[in-house]
Amino acid sequence: MQGVWRRVVRFSVAAATLACLGTAWGGQVEVLHWWTSGGESRSVEELKRLLAAQGHTWRDFAVVGGGGDSAMSVLRSRVLAGNPPAAAQIKGPAIKEWGRLDVLADLEDVAAAQKWDAQLPRVVADVMKVNGRYVAVPVNVHRVNWLWINRDALRKAGARAPNTWEEFFAVAEKMRQAGIVPVAHGGQSWQEFTTFESVVLGVGGADFYRRAFVQLDPKALHSDTMSRSLQTFRRIKDYTDRRAPGRDWNVATAMVIKGEAGMQFMGDWAKGEFLAAGKEPSRDFLCVSAPGTARAFSFNVDSFAMFRLKDPAAVQAQKALAATIMRPEFQQSFNLNKGSIPVGTGVQMDRFDLCAQESSAYFVATAMINTLVPSIAHLMAQPASVEGAMREAVAAYWNNERMTTDEAMLRLVAAAKPTAARPAQP
Ligand code: BGC
Repeated sequence: MQGVWRRVVRFSVAAATLACLGTAWGGQVEVLHWWTSGGESRSVEELKRLLAAQGHTWRDFAVVGGGGDSAMSVLRSRVLAGNPPAAAQIKGPAIKEWGRLDVLADLEDVAAAQKWDAQLPRVVADVMKVNGRYVAVPVNVHRVNWLWINRDALRKAGARAPNTWEEFFAVAEKMRQAGIVPVAHGGQSWQEFTTFESVVLGVGGADFYRRAFVQLDPKALHSDTMSRSLQTFRRIKDYTDRRAPGRDWNVATAMVIKGEAGMQFMGDWAKGEFLAAGKEPSRDFLCVSAPGTARAFSFNVDSFAMFRLKDPAAVQAQKALAATIMRPEFQQSFNLNKGSIPVGTGVQMDRFDLCAQESSAYFVATAMINTLVPSIAHLMAQPASVEGAMREAVAAYWNNERMTTDEAMLRLVAAAKPTAARPAQP
C-alpha cells in the first residue's frame, strides 16, 4: 500500500511541476535587468514574448547602465525594503552571497524536471547553486576578450587584423593617420576594467590572469607582468578620443558600426548592436580575439536569481520563467540576438554566425587546456566588494596620467584585501 501512495505522491508532484512549467497560470513576474541597448532589448523581448505566450505577465524593471552597477544598487535597496523583484539579473559569486542572506527561491523542482545538471557545464552549474540546490538559472555565455573591428576602417588604414599587441598598436597608428579614431572607448570604470582584463590576459596569459584575479595573489598583482599590462593598457588610451569620458558602451560600439572609429574592446554583447544595425560579421565587421588571447576565453555568464515570494501565482510565473530560459528554443533565439552562445548543450549552432561558432568551439577547447577564466570585470571572479575596489584602482590609473604603475599595483594589492571598512556584500 505504501508503495502505491508513494507513486501517487510522486505522480502529483510531477504533475504539479509540469503544470507550472508549461501552462497558463496567469501570474506576474517582475524582472530586474539592465538590458536596455538596441541589441539587448531585442533579446529581452524574446523572453517577454515566450512568457506571455504561457499566460504570464512580465513586469519590466529595467535599470539603465551597462555592466549592471546601477541595477545592483537598486536591487539592494529593494531587498532591504522587504520588496524584492521576482527575478533579478544576478551573476557569479554574488548568487551565493544573496543565497547566504536566505532570500532566494529554490528551483530544484524545475531543475530536476528539465535535467539541468545534465545540460549545463559544471563550471556554470556550480555557480547557480547554494548548498547544492539551484537558486538561479543561466541565460547564456558571453566571451569578453574580443576586439571588434570595422572592416572598411581596416581597409582604409591599409592594415590587417592584429594578433599581437605590437601589431595592434601598428594598426591603431595607421587608423589614426587615415583620420579614424582608432579605439572607441566608453569612459566608465566598468569599461576600463573590461579592456584591462583583456590586456592582462593577453600580456600575462591565463595562468597569470588566474593568479592575479582569481587567487588575488599579491605577488602577481605587484609584478613585472602586471606592470607591463598597465603600461600596455595606458598606451591604448592614446588611441581613444577626447569625448570618451562618460560615454555608454553601445554609443562606442555605434562609432565602430558607422566607421567613425576602427576598433573596440568589448564582450560579445557588442555583436548584438552590430546585428541590430543590420551589419554582418566578415562582410562589415570582424570579431577577433583581443591581442595575445586567441587561446583563452574569459567568460561572463548572465543569469537570473529568483527571490522567494509568497503569492502562489507569482511563484508559478517565476518557475515558468526559469523553465523557459532553459528551453533550447529560447536559448537559440535569445542568443542569436544577444551576441552570446547558448549555455546548455543540445542547441543547434548552425544558425549562429562565425563569431558565435568560434566562441562555442573555444568555450569547449579552452576548458580542456585550462585557459577558460572567469571575467573579473563582469563579476564572475570575485564578490562585488573586491571587484569594485579593483575596478576603481584600474579606472584611477587610466584617468590620472600622473599615477605610476607602481602606485596602481599597490592599489590593486590593497583592493584585493578584505577590510572591515569594506565588508562583503552582495
Ligand atoms: C552583461 C551583458 C550586458 C553587458 C552590457 C554585462 O555585464 O553580462 O549581458 O549586455 O553587461 O550591459
